[in-house]
Amino acid sequence: MLSERLTYYSELTEKKLGELLVEGERAPILQESMGYSVFSGGKRIRPALCMAACELCGGAPQDAQLAACALEMIHTYSLIHDDLPAMDNDDMRRGKPSNHKAFGEANAILAGDGLLSLAFYALSLCPHTDALAAISKGAFEMVMGQSLDVNSGGDESLLRQLQDYKTGALFRAAVVAGAACASASAEQREALVRFANAYGMLFQITDDILDCEGEASVLGKSVGKDAERGKTTFVTIYGPERSKEYAKTYARDAREAVLQVGENAAFFNELISYTLTRKS
Ligand code: IPE
Ligand code: IPE
Ligand code: MG
Ligand code: MG
Ligand code: MG
Repeated sequence: MLSERLTYYSELTEKKLGELLVEGERAPILQESMGYSVFSGGKRIRPALCMAACELCGGAPQDAQLAACALEMIHTYSLIHDDLPAMDNDDMRRGKPSNHKAFGEANAILAGDGLLSLAFYALSLCPHTDALAAISKGAFEMVMGQSLDVNSGGDESLLRQLQDYKTGALFRAAVVAGAACASASAEQREALVRFANAYGMLFQITDDILDCEGEASVLGKSVGKDAERGKTTFVTIYGPERSKEYAKTYARDAREAVLQVGENAAFFNELISYTLTRKS
């Protein structure tokens, strides 16, 4: 059920992404480098959550297709820039050489810039202005989180704020934009925000655990880098076992929140279970 839904949402996202990327055809290296990172097998969780939130609030997944594409482009841009030598200096992403390894740093910076800009073009085609507001806010908060991440130096008091911004923000943007595309009620949007607050923490804690316990070949990215770089993560602050307990607590909070949005929340519950034990 979960994998079928994820495949369905991915197909809808990729179809529209293909159309949007045609905009870059007069700059072939830009177009190629954007496509290299966007079409390289990410899990597509943010667009899936956007469309699933739209459905849960009574809309059709297609109503949120442009918002979903914008989210995946912003997320992919964040990964390209996150991997740059000036940031995390990672050579592998989504099972392939990182964008700057394949195209050089200048082109990788531009691929990120291009995806961010094209995301806002996609949103300009979406009639729901509150989806635009949610995603703009999420994109900026993600950058705030990245700033806290590169400047934090192991500061425990900043840990939750940092993770909430760098990762939670785009999940919040995804569900609020999806709900906006279904003209959802304020109560539904608030419950979805509570879901995303908890789910974002769950997702980043499991990301931190995978950096320490995961396998690079399954993850599609390098492991063991957070400790090496002195990053502030759940694992570096609390160790893997306490981090797993925190992940379970956030999973429970996420389940409770989504119950208050509507019936047929099976996708959300399965996604939470999958995230808790994910290997990639
Ligand atoms: C990786 O996100 C960056 C984080 C916020 C931890 P994902 O694990 O969703 O990456 P893809 O999209 O599947 O590659
Ligand atoms: C990055 O967090 C979150 C982003 C906003 C890109 P990480 O630096 O932990 O992500 P990975 O582990 O490289 O995917
Ligand atoms: Mg990083
Ligand atoms: Mg990184
Ligand atoms: Mg990580």
